[in-house]
Amino acid sequence: MDISPLQQARYAYQPKLPAILRKDITSIAPAFGEATSAATDADAVKALFPHTYGMSRVTFTEGDNQAITARRNVGVILSGGQAPGGHNVISGLFDALKAANPENILYGFKGGPSGILEDSYQIITSEFLAPYRNTGGFDIIGSGRTKLETQEQFEICAKVCKKHDISALVIIGGDDSNTNAAVLAEYFLEKNHGIQVIGCPKTIDGDLKNEFIEISFGFDTATKTYSELIGNIERDANSAKKYWHFIKLMGRSASHIALECALETQPNICLISEEVEANKQSLVGIVEDIAQAVSARALDGNNFGVVLIPEGLVEFIPEIKALIDEINHLLAKEATAFNALTDSDQRVAFVSSRLSKSSQAVFTILPDEIQKQLLMDRDPHGNVQVSRIETDKLLASMVENRLKHMKAEGTYKGKFSSMTHFFGYEGRCAFPTNFDADYCYSLGYNAFCLIGAGLSGYLSSVTNLCAPAQNWNAGGIPITMMMNMEVRHGAKKPVIKKALVELEGKPFTYFAKHRSRWARETCFTYPGAVQYYGPSEVCDKTTVTLVLEQSK
Ligand code: FBP
Repeated sequence: MDISPLQQARYAYQPKLPAILRKDITSIAPAFGEATSAATDADAVKALFPHTYGMSRVTFTEGDNQAITARRNVGVILSGGQAPGGHNVISGLFDALKAANPENILYGFKGGPSGILEDSYQIITSEFLAPYRNTGGFDIIGSGRTKLETQEQFEICAKVCKKHDISALVIIGGDDSNTNAAVLAEYFLEKNHGIQVIGCPKTIDGDLKNEFIEISFGFDTATKTYSELIGNIERDANSAKKYWHFIKLMGRSASHIALECALETQPNICLISEEVEANKQSLVGIVEDIAQAVSARALDGNNFGVVLIPEGLVEFIPEIKALIDEINHLLAKEATAFNALTDSDQRVAFVSSRLSKSSQAVFTILPDEIQKQLLMDRDPHGNVQVSRIETDKLLASMVENRLKHMKAEGTYKGKFSSMTHFFGYEGRCAFPTNFDADYCYSLGYNAFCLIGAGLSGYLSSVTNLCAPAQNWNAGGIPITMMMNMEVRHGAKKPVIKKALVELEGKPFTYFAKHRSRWARETCFTYPGAVQYYGPSEVCDKTTVTLVLEQSK
């Protein structure tokens, strides 16, 4: 591998741990708090997780813990989309595992959850791990989206673990992967397989969070990477003064990424899907609002601007959400007939003819390309692949049409020329920021401490993240605590409840207070590139979202 100078320099970075995790590993002991419940639907979740529901939250404190030195083999899986810092979770896990007992072995299952099903693995040694420390990507062992959900799969997992004498698995994933981790933990306990399962909160989307998971790893780096690019585009727009840029930002359903980037860069417009849903805004209504903002700026001679669009927007526009729900049911029910059609126009006609009258009316007004994008394969968890729906192009073209009408009516006198962008994959494998490098290393180290405490069905939890790393708290929460019941593939399933943007929350409130000025004036801010070396206020600061959330 050819190494860039930055990569070489990052190898020397020593991630910071919370003070409790810096102690000799035999003096880190668990302290148990109160019993927990579920996010909602407690009775249904309890019935499905008789062994792991209601367990207590755990915090690590100083105390004697010789049991952690028992020899053990551990397996690790990277699951789902890449997020900066995954390599450091593995580094932290590895270092704790070896600190506990140098004879311990870490198995990295390759290519995501399918790696364990296929018994495809890499033994992680310190020489193998060294070139990956503090780097982005999941390429150390690869990732994948295979869903572990059937009893057959669970039995294969147990068989593979027993073959290698693996007594604990660490699953590094988002809400869906950690849901699977909880189901697997429950199954292993029910069958007395003696294999622990621990999750680590990963996703750039930022939607896996609660009081004890303050942020999912990767969100900090990804949003800083996008904010740098948005700031650069804003400066270009303000220099040339001739384009409106429509920028779609990854993040699946939640608008956390778009909101954080807006707080970092102060664009003219940032749509927040959760607000669109709450206000039951229609697609036409959204287009009208953007067209009015464009027209207002044109009055000041500003025929340029920047619009941020969260990836999942279409799912929150009521009439399109209803359409997507119908399509989801239809594709689950009539999968065989639908999949037998190979021509995309035939697929569109097949679906269109089976929709209710109201959804058919909405489906028909969408451009052909968007219709096709709505019918593309769901991911293995049954989600629409929103990153493939070109909302940026849809909105730019609808705004252009609306402005043409306004011009004809004499209500708009400006010039409109648009550019579209999609930022997503650009941020998922960036070198982790110092924050993500420290946080991920701590999550991994902490995950091993949860294993050492004999726990299963827990998510690694490191909190108090606005403080310097040494003041962070370390512990774990039962995954069932974050669960509720939702319809997936047409049936009710227990899943981790997605944390969406709260309209009463401080980050959104701050944004809402300032956005009308940002819309009319040019208030762009330019965050610049992520810095790794230099003053702490430049290199170590975390997200505006987290700072606002934790402000008094
Ligand atoms: P995870 O939820 O697995 O972390 O994935 C996040 C994400 O980057 C989403 O923001 C995006 O919609 C999706 O992955 C894209 O998936 P893929 O990598 O399969 O194209």
